[in-house]
Parts: sequence; C-alpha cells; structure tokens
Amino acid sequence: MTFLAQTADVQPDCGTLVELAGRAPIAVFRLGDEFFATDDTCTHGAASLCDGEIFDGQVECPFHGGTFDIRTGAATTFPCTKPLAVYPVVVENGRIYARLDSEDGG
Ligand code: FES
Repeated sequence: MTFLAQTADVQPDCGTLVELAGRAPIAVFRLGDEFFATDDTCTHGAASLCDGEIFDGQVECPFHGGTFDIRTGAATTFPCTKPLAVYPVVVENGRIYARLDSEDGG
C-alpha cells in the first residue's frame, strides 16, 4: 500500500493532489466520511481534476466540464467518455493508503 495523505488534509470541497515518483499523480477525494483515490489527470486531456469542483459525488474537469463519478471512476458527462482509474483505499489512524496498479499485494 502507498501512503497518500492524512485524512485531516483532505477537504470535502476539492481533491488533494498527491505527487508520486515514477507514476502519474493521484487525486484523493472525501465524500462524507469516506475517502477515494483516483488518477488526477482527466482522461480527456491534461487537466488536473484536483482543480475541479465536486458536487453530488462527482468531480467536474476544469478544462471542458466533463465529469466523473468519484466512487466508480465512470465518465458521466461529455466530453469525458473513458473512465478514470479508481484505487482501493484503506484508512488507518488518520492516514490514507491506496493500492496502486503497480502493486500486487500487501
Ligand atoms: S480535459 Fe477534462 S474534459 Fe477535457
């Protein structure tokens, strides 16, 4: 598992950008008391979804207004059609971890 952020650092109104060595950045989102980790880069272009607005469990891309479901990564508004990668998250003692695609266990 990869440490992403402290729960206290993730606010409900915007994504928290996590830069990691050797891979594209991750966005950590908070919906109520739940945390979610997705790719930060929009699947339609080079936008950071952490710069987008969050409403109804969705994040709106700041470039062209496409949206994704934060829980599932599904593309929900045109021009986004390709789903966003979502990673399994574990929260322990106020720390958020995710199993990223380069990890096969642990
Ligand atoms: S870059 Fe995100 S909708 Fe176009």
